[in-house]
Amino acid sequence: MGTYAVTGSASGMGREAAEKLRAAGHTVLGVDLADAEVTADLSTPEGRRAAAGEVLHAAGGRLDGAVLAAGLGPVPGRESTIAQVNYLGAVELLRAWRAALAAAGEAKVVVLSSNSTTTTPAVPRRTVRALLADDPDRAVRSVRLLGRAAAPMVYAGSKIALSHWVRRTAVLPDWAGSGIRLNALAPGAIRTPLLERQLADASAAKAVRSFPVPVGGYGEPAQLADWVVFMLSDSANFLVGSVVFVDGGSDAYFRADAWPRPVPFRGLVRYLWRMRSFGAR
Ligand code: NAI
Repeated sequence: MGTYAVTGSASGMGREAAEKLRAAGHTVLGVDLADAEVTADLSTPEGRRAAAGEVLHAAGGRLDGAVLAAGLGPVPGRESTIAQVNYLGAVELLRAWRAALAAAGEAKVVVLSSNSTTTTPAVPRRTVRALLADDPDRAVRSVRLLGRAAAPMVYAGSKIALSHWVRRTAVLPDWAGSGIRLNALAPGAIRTPLLERQLADASAAKAVRSFPVPVGGYGEPAQLADWVVFMLSDSANFLVGSVVFVDGGSDAYFRADAWPRPVPFRGLVRYLWRMRSFGAR
């Protein structure tokens, strides 16, 4: 039986995943604002440092896996907290846990992304770039003139940056090369307290209800937790750097031809350079 760190373990998908892991006999070190083994505020650098350190201490320096589910929805006025928790609250913890994950040999990590990454139009590139540069303040400044669109843009931007970070990082010698399988799960609207709060607000509810979902309805947190547990299992030993969409078909509806896509002619030089640099590792 293994030891797993789960952020956002007090509610929604994080809570369901933690319960399923515990039911299977694993030890879960939950991280949340309250009702968790490790209570910490992931919206501050100090909170993130404390959470990372307490988990490492409790795990004895070895982690079989981690689930990064702490996060906020696109709540107006909370742009800074969204950037801090959704992006740095996952990335900084994972950087701190890398050696403990490598120590397990075949560790698995599931990061909660979102289908807002591909279905929110016109997310500013500079918002994503600022987050990938670990600069949440610049990310928030980049949307300051967008009024009520600021929060959805920072939200989608935080999940785009997180997904790109996952894909860039997953394939590195320190990660895949050290046996760590790092992947992201991108849900659509899932019936958790986060979604219930959106449905309780008239204008947010209208946007959620009118959003195209080919199969209809919402996902259930327990179903998504099953995907998380599967992505932590031995069946996922060959899954690395993937962003798995579980969203009722919205991403496919809007973006059927966006991916997979062949490498364009103008991308050939970079492709050949990547090929050669892999052999030189
Ligand atoms: P939830 O609101 O039910 O649970 C999120 C958890 O994160 C809560 O327990 C909360 O206390 C914790 N958290 C928030 N701020 C924190 C902070 N500063 N420090 C420590 N913990 C903090 O949300 P849900 O729906 O389970 O979401 C889980 C993840 O999935 C989030 O990252 C969310 O963005 C993402 N997601 C959710 C979707 C949905 O429709 N519910 C859709 C796509 C992605």
